[in-house]
Amino acid sequence: MKEQNRYVLGESESEHSRLRDQSVVLDPLTRQLHIEAGITAGMSVLDIGTGAGHVAAIAADLVGPHGQVLAVDRNPEALDGARDRLGHRQEIEFAEADLTVLDLDRQFDAIVGRAVLMHVSSPVEVLERLRRHLRPGGLMVMHEFDLTQQWTSVSTPLWDRVRTLILQTFESIGIHNTLGRDLFAAFRSAGLPDPHLTLGAPVGGGAEAPSFGWVNVLAGLLPYLEQQGIVTADEIGIDSLTQRLTDELDAEDATLLGPLMYGAYCTVD
Ligand SMILES: C[S@@+](CC[C@H](N)C(=O)[O-])C[C@H]1O[C@@H](n2cnc3c(N)ncnc32)[C@H](O)[C@@H]1O
Repeated sequence: MKEQNRYVLGESESEHSRLRDQSVVLDPLTRQLHIEAGITAGMSVLDIGTGAGHVAAIAADLVGPHGQVLAVDRNPEALDGARDRLGHRQEIEFAEADLTVLDLDRQFDAIVGRAVLMHVSSPVEVLERLRRHLRPGGLMVMHEFDLTQQWTSVSTPLWDRVRTLILQTFESIGIHNTLGRDLFAAFRSAGLPDPHLTLGAPVGGGAEAPSFGWVNVLAGLLPYLEQQGIVTADEIGIDSLTQRLTDELDAEDATLLGPLMYGAYCTVD
């Protein structure tokens, strides 16, 4: 049975460092999306599912000292970590909130989010709820993964195993693996204007193959996989996995594609 609205990637220090590693690759794409969408000086921005606060920090850079960012997450541990990291940023405020019941008594110039809607059981219902928190003329800016494309230019045994493990596990717990490419439909279903779309992804071969990104996702899932008796860290050889995956690609002169990151943004009436 699918577990609705459960975040399985962990709620601890290790999840924080996982998000930090992921952000190194994703932040430039998110920054570009925010700029293209029109996040700019002086705006008030809501960052949903802030995690370690990386997207909030990007928004804060763009809105500057006269703007404000409210960063929400339902996980108090994530918020503590984000406050530790970003507490010195006067323009960012943090608050605990569950998006599925979000009801704030204020409206924002923009709402941003990355890799969050994929974790809620109904992204459309959350978008509808968020819509009520945007002022007329406000911006909705979402950045979500599509994990289901072919990852490697040549199929190899270890890559096939890791891909199947990640996709089947996410699928079985109700994570929306294809939300990136489904964002357009989700915006429409939520009664939002047709969004502009962007697409970006980490890509490379040899020493630049972004193998680490996928291993990072698997590492986040490991506590759940172990608990379910699916695989252990030792069985999968997590410590040497990045190197073995990269070697496998190298032997085939193959290239690797990281998760496709779809951006979707629109201005509401
Ligand atoms: C993959 S992390 C992404 C964090 C951050 N947006 C980033 O890109 O670095 C997803 C975050 O969404 C939060 N989250 C998941 N479901 C949520 C919900 N229903 N309400 C609020 N936060 C939620 C999780 O606690 C987690 O911190």
